[in-house]
Amino acid sequence: MSDLPTTFEPHSPGKPPAAGPGNDGATSNLQKSEALGGRTMKIWRGDAAGGEFKEYHAEVSAGMVVLDAVHQVQATQAGDLACRWNCKAGKCGSCAAEINGKPRLMCMTRIESLPEGTITVQPMKAFKPMKDLVTDVSWNYAVKKKIAPFTPKAPEADGTWRMQQFEVERVQEFRKCIECFLCQDTCHVLRDHGKHEEFAGPRFFVHSAQLEMHPLDTVNREAWLKNDGGLGYCNITKCCTEVCPEHIHITDNAIIPLKERVADTYYDPVIKLWRWAFKKFEHSEPKT
Ligand code: SF4
Ligand code: SF4
Ligand code: FES
Repeated sequence: MSDLPTTFEPHSPGKPPAAGPGNDGATSNLQKSEALGGRTMKIWRGDAAGGEFKEYHAEVSAGMVVLDAVHQVQATQAGDLACRWNCKAGKCGSCAAEINGKPRLMCMTRIESLPEGTITVQPMKAFKPMKDLVTDVSWNYAVKKKIAPFTPKAPEADGTWRMQQFEVERVQEFRKCIECFLCQDTCHVLRDHGKHEEFAGPRFFVHSAQLEMHPLDTVNREAWLKNDGGLGYCNITKCCTEVCPEHIHITDNAIIPLKERVADTYYDPVIKLWRWAFKKFEHSEPKT
């Protein structure tokens, strides 16, 4: 959706900033312990109206992650640089960005793991930029509201529900999602084709799979997935799986089983005949 620039005007690459307003000495403190040298940070600055990359300098010490370097830039050279973060532990999903062009969590990307040279940091491309590294991800919350919520069947006579262990394990993987939306960002259907009105994206296929495979849930979301959710747009490239920081097997364990269910329901001639004969087809019918 955003149109991020790919060119920039370099200035003083690789050199530390001069002392002055905004430089509080944090750089020299870092240099005292386990210093690994300086890195040029090319960070996108701008908002929904447009922007450009600007260059900064970070003094790197052992164990530093990209979020540390961004905070160092904030503290020493650009006090108005906006970035979103909360946990610095890979669990809140807030610090999602694109590092050297790849969707990643800033707090879980060690600088030592990146190739030598300039590090680029820019906001997720699939969503509108708000300011600098912060994007407007509210579209995702609107999509989630359209998916029928968990609707459990009535409890057993003793007031409890029973589930098999394998049923628990099957959906447990999907519950690890931290809603970082990196999978949404990398998916070409959103990123390159901007099908936000017609395609829910891998995050919400994971969410749907979690509900559809839940043994106690009573709602059938196949019609929504096929029509509003745009499941058919997914051509199982597995790019979403590759960037998921929780290592959820998005494509193999969520999307492909959902596609199989939709295909069985809508394209299997025997099932179609059965539905026609018994007039069972409803937009959101109970699971059978
Ligand atoms: S596998 Fe499907 S949902 Fe995942 S990135 Fe590829 S097209 Fe998008
Ligand atoms: S499925 Fe993975 S990549 Fe996608 S939002 Fe959840 S944690 Fe992030
Ligand atoms: S700050 Fe929470 S995931 Fe990075």
